[in-house]
Amino acid sequence: MKPIELPAGARFLLDTLAINGFPSYIVGGCVRDSLLGLIPKDWDICTPAKPGEVKACLPDVRIIETGLKHGTVTVLLPDGQYEVTTFRIDGAYTDHRRPDSVEFVTDIKADLARRDFTVNAMAYNKAVGLVDPFGGQEDLANGLIRCVGEPRKRFCEDGLRIMRAIRFAGVYGFSIEKQTSLAIFAEKSLLKNIAAERIREELCKLLVGKGVSPILSEYAEVVATVIPECVPSADYTRAALAISKYTGDDIRVLLTLLLRAATPLEPETADRILSRLRFDNKTRRDVVQLFSCRDRAITPESASVRRLLSELGQAQFFRLIEERTAWLAAEASGADWERLSCLTQADALAKSILASNPCLDAKTLAINGEDILALGVREGKTVGGLLTLALNAVLDGTVTNDREALLSYLRLQLPHTE
Ligand code: CTP
Repeated sequence: MKPIELPAGARFLLDTLAINGFPSYIVGGCVRDSLLGLIPKDWDICTPAKPGEVKACLPDVRIIETGLKHGTVTVLLPDGQYEVTTFRIDGAYTDHRRPDSVEFVTDIKADLARRDFTVNAMAYNKAVGLVDPFGGQEDLANGLIRCVGEPRKRFCEDGLRIMRAIRFAGVYGFSIEKQTSLAIFAEKSLLKNIAAERIREELCKLLVGKGVSPILSEYAEVVATVIPECVPSADYTRAALAISKYTGDDIRVLLTLLLRAATPLEPETADRILSRLRFDNKTRRDVVQLFSCRDRAITPESASVRRLLSELGQAQFFRLIEERTAWLAAEASGADWERLSCLTQADALAKSILASNPCLDAKTLAINGEDILALGVREGKTVGGLLTLALNAVLDGTVTNDREALLSYLRLQLPHTE
């Protein structure tokens, strides 16, 4: 195994703790990702030093007492923050989420034994090399997610680990080892007691995974546990395939595709699911809007593209194209190339329309409310209504966005004005 390249902050911490008699390691996700050749998001450190001892080793460094009870402090260094956690073993998990108590230990192997999966139960430092008591490196090489020890016990400790297992498998394109897989099905109802925010985070990470389609299909029962409206069906299979056909990572597109598997297939259902999973309002509104457009015709024709751009805004327009493209590409009877080609043309057309700095909303019209009032608007017609009329004429291409042209057009619409 090649040595793992550590960032300066992690090297400093491991060296400082070691000099003070605490042989410490990087651990968990950063070891896994480094061995996979990926860039870790964060570098967690585990140490035999208790939090007070960690602080004493680093007198001139800013330290936040993140979770003293669980032995964690966050060390703020110039290149980032590092969580440093004392080696520990966990007591009972009555809430299926956090241990009721923890016991600090001095053996790294005991600390690794409390972790969820073999690929996450490895530690490393330069002097010792890789500490891998459960065969994590081999499982990584074979593309396997396997619990450390007894899988059902691991899931009972923290039910979210069920979602984590399918998330890691989906993200890395791995399989789930047989016993671990059986335990997932046996214990899936534990997910019902997990906070919606935590499920949401895992679901979002899963959906962008490169191997998500087979995992969504194989673990449809798990998805149905967290989203009971998404039960296995032809649409579910197609949604799973469409999600993997989509090569981007826009969560709004991915969620819209997933929600195509919901029953009843209505915007209210989509909205209810997203609210329950505590998505923020903006994401929820955008996804429900995309979902509501799922049967909308998209034709490569200037007026209709301009109208759609005006109604949805640029970002949502292109999301809609991407979502529809993935959905069509996943058609069971084979992709409908003609419709796919229409989408490609609509996409190109939208880009060329946008390049010409078009008028797509009332704010960019060549006339404003004052101009409308100056026309002498009478009862029954509102300023806003007339601006919309003018905008629609511009979007349809019947009138150019020119002040005189628009005023003449509106005069014709107002037979009762002088
Ligand atoms: N861990 C665990 N059980 C959990 C969560 C985490 O055993 N329910 C352990 C694993 O060893 C994991 C480490 O804590 O590697 C750090 O957890 P976390 O930062 O949540 O995840 P990562 O594995 O680092 O992966 P990612 O950052 O991709 O979420």
